[in-house]
Amino acid sequence: MQVPSPRKAADSSSVLVRWMGLVDANSAGYVHGGTVMKLCDEVAGLAAVRHSRCRVVTAGMDRMTFLEPIHIGELVTFTASVNAAWRTSMEVGVRVESENPRTGVVRHTSTAYLTMVALDDDGRPTGVPPLGVGSADEQRREREAQTRRRNRLAEREELLRDRDD
Ligand SMILES: CC(C)(COP(=O)(O)OP(=O)(O)OC[C@H]1O[C@@H](n2cnc3c(N)ncnc32)[C@H](O)[C@@H]1OP(=O)(O)O)[C@@H](O)C(=O)NCCC(=O)NCCS
Repeated sequence: MQVPSPRKAADSSSVLVRWMGLVDANSAGYVHGGTVMKLCDEVAGLAAVRHSRCRVVTAGMDRMTFLEPIHIGELVTFTASVNAAWRTSMEVGVRVESENPRTGVVRHTSTAYLTMVALDDDGRPTGVPPLGVGSADEQRREREAQTRRRNRLAEREELLRDRDD
């Protein structure tokens, strides 16, 4: 089987920009966490499709931090990059930044890490191109993604072992 050539993270990096209106508010008057999660999932899916050129599904979200609330009326940018690619899955990191359009102040409000799996035409997991890792930042992201995957698999193994006991 021919192994596809590596693809750079920059070639699939994807950006969504959304202005937050009243429909995005929670009962406290800030932007609902679910709105942020949905848009993280969408932009991560875009980056994963562009890396793999396949249909993808979200297999899991490894982490989602909410560092500061987002206010209604702010302009929110979701930037996604493939951090690592394995056999059929990819980790995509999403950085969320919120801008007050009146003051121009930009805040980093969330970070998320999602695992997306590429599917073939029959809906089965299919191989993805390796990630071409270049810059020091890309190397760090890849290393950290490997750590998250290792930890996730180790946790799963430990939980399953405990169930068997
Ligand atoms: C994700 C899914 C395709 C995996 O199917 P599966 O039968 O477990 O397939 P495999 O065991 O071959 O695993 C395929 C890959 O998924 C990864 N994977 C499976 N479950 C995972 C999880 N919970 N978290 C992270 N990665 C996961 C595996 O590590 C593997 O990666 P690799 O090939 O790069 O090593 C399947 O569980 C699924 O369809 N889930 C529903 C997805 C969905 O509906 N998402 C929401 C809407 S998009």
